Amino acid sequence: MKNVQDLSREEAIAELAALAQKIAAADNAYYQNDAPDLTDADYDALKHRNTAIETRFPDLVREDSPSLRVGSVVQSKFNKIEHRFPMLSLGDVFSIEEVDDFVLGVKRFLNRTEDIDFMAEPKIDGLSFAARYEKGVFVSGATRGDGIVGEDITENLKTLKQLPLTLPSGVPDVLEVRGEVYMAKRDFMALNEHNAAEKKKLFANPRNAAAGSLRQLNPRITAERKLSIWAYTWGEVSERQWSTQAEFFDKLALWGFPVNPLNKVCHSLRDIEENFKHIAEIRADLPYDIDGVVYKVNSIELQNRLGFLTRTPRWAIAHKFPAEQALTRIENIRIQVGRTGALTPVADLEPINVGGVLVSHATLHNEDEIKRKDIRIGDMVIVQRAGDVIPQVVAVRTDKRCADSKPFDFPHICPECGAHAIREENEAIRRCTGGLTCPAQAKERLKHFVSKDAFDIIGLGDKVIEAFYDDGIIRHPADIFTIEERNGRTENDLFTFGDEGLHLEHRNGWGKLSVDNLFKAIRARHIISLPRFVYALGIPQVGSATALLLAQNYGSFDALQADMMARETAKLVAIDGIGGEMGKDIVEFFNEQHNIDEIAALRKFVNIENYIDDRRKDSILSGKTVVFTGTLEKLTRAEAKALAQKFGAKVAGSVSSHTDYVVVGADAGSKAKKAAELGVKTLSEDEFINNCKG
Ligand code: IVH
Repeated sequence: MKNVQDLSREEAIAELAALAQKIAAADNAYYQNDAPDLTDADYDALKHRNTAIETRFPDLVREDSPSLRVGSVVQSKFNKIEHRFPMLSLGDVFSIEEVDDFVLGVKRFLNRTEDIDFMAEPKIDGLSFAARYEKGVFVSGATRGDGIVGEDITENLKTLKQLPLTLPSGVPDVLEVRGEVYMAKRDFMALNEHNAAEKKKLFANPRNAAAGSLRQLNPRITAERKLSIWAYTWGEVSERQWSTQAEFFDKLALWGFPVNPLNKVCHSLRDIEENFKHIAEIRADLPYDIDGVVYKVNSIELQNRLGFLTRTPRWAIAHKFPAEQALTRIENIRIQVGRTGALTPVADLEPINVGGVLVSHATLHNEDEIKRKDIRIGDMVIVQRAGDVIPQVVAVRTDKRCADSKPFDFPHICPECGAHAIREENEAIRRCTGGLTCPAQAKERLKHFVSKDAFDIIGLGDKVIEAFYDDGIIRHPADIFTIEERNGRTENDLFTFGDEGLHLEHRNGWGKLSVDNLFKAIRARHIISLPRFVYALGIPQVGSATALLLAQNYGSFDALQADMMARETAKLVAIDGIGGEMGKDIVEFFNEQHNIDEIAALRKFVNIENYIDDRRKDSILSGKTVVFTGTLEKLTRAEAKALAQKFGAKVAGSVSSHTDYVVVGADAGSKAKKAAELGVKTLSEDEFINNCKG
């Protein structure tokens, strides 16, 4: 081999190309095929030679040079990247019966009787990434984050040897490939062994190790860790060149992305079941962790027709492996009091490792559940953990019970405030009647008010809320907005004499900086979106999806409050997704004096933005109320409804003066007649479909 100094420019170009190819092939053999074809020393020699040539000819560094993977740009914090298309999550099921229900639901939605093909893919237990390519060159990468905004991990992703930095010609100009970053089991064990020898932190499992390795401000650390990827879906693409998930995988493989060889098209529920059994059998022997199998409708056209629910696609689901179980002892049964006064029994357990996670509490649900299972303090019980759900007690080992154990007495008095705890007829839940005079309820409402989907005030975590409540600093949500004023002058001010402010900066665990940050976070919330505000109020049964529906249908808080206070419910109950019971709870909430006072107090400090649905404002359906009647021919009812909502319309069940359009199918009956009487505009199915474009 020639010395680097003696190489001509042409020779350098040729050798750099050959080296890039050889090193990529070696990486591939190591990661993809699990069969290294070079010794470590030979591999290092290739990389050294590559670096030496690049040092001599810096302008010849290739876009896919192996040296770009070392990670050189150190950041002080991660920048944010907004996903052009949200990175959604998947609904979970745990049994083949539930998979069956899912498949039936898909068929019903599409009005199909024949079988539909599904792609079955191992569900990789890692963390998802998005890699963006423009004109075939990798330009940026992001984590999932909250699904809307992720962290910019471009430099870190570059160091992953399996991720192609350039793509062959013919790929779409804009192509965002998404998949999972994971750490293989043997790489995880080697990392932990190494860390143990160096007395460094050990990772609990490969997933944590992968996350900790990828989210590094210094990408050199990422480069040192052995991380692998599987690609499985896409985000933005300028031109979709595939019409099924299977074709997409073929393209991915052609472009050089690792595609899991276990991905398999299933033609029937039987195929799905067999495949699941097979994957479960080989699970332990796979070189990486998986936690289930994902099913996706194979046809992209059908995927598009099926569309999305709030956070999950209607065309895919995750079939998780059964929950892990373990045996342990109940040390105590505690009663927790929730935001709406519900008394929930919780078992304190002798800590036990359940499938890799240390479990020390389990929910016991309610009074009847304890009675039904006869759960007692001191009992040995089987606990189970499934996915992210709170651990549960599945059964009591009565054969191991002490002779002197007594059935558990469920309290009829709130353990937090001493008020009566009552159970309405037909209700499973016993509730404290103390309302906001019960400190537990008040604290839970405050925690809800500042939580992520509500006011999202960083700095007011659960512990802080409890301490501030106990010390009388925050008793009501509105108190949050006067806290800065009440804090008093800071140490830096000249005239502190006679100042009796709160001086949070003197509290244990606080300093000037954290107090300033808290005030900044609170100040940023003087303006709040309508859905967040409605959700933050903590109306029983109203989660963030319902809060959004209310915002979409009323547009402003004043309109919502006025209708509710007047007990005017026609519009409310016409909203698809709000039932009678929920409607009652909403009206009651707005008519309770302490809630009226609380809202008034809050509005002195908080401006609630009106809700403008600007996602699809071009459609004539945007903001309008639509009613469907008769038999539709091209769309199923569910599909038509979803389509209308996608274009910003509200779907109601009956025609009234609030209705803007009635979509009339074949054999339409009384609703079409009523539309004519009220002079409501009608649309044919085709007219409706034509207005759902763009
Ligand atoms: S598809 C809209 N496919 O599971 C569908 N996800 O619970 C987007 N995951 O956030 C995801 N293996 O991190 C998909 N073969 C696979 C997957 C997979 C693992 C993860 C992914 C996602 C989570 C959803």
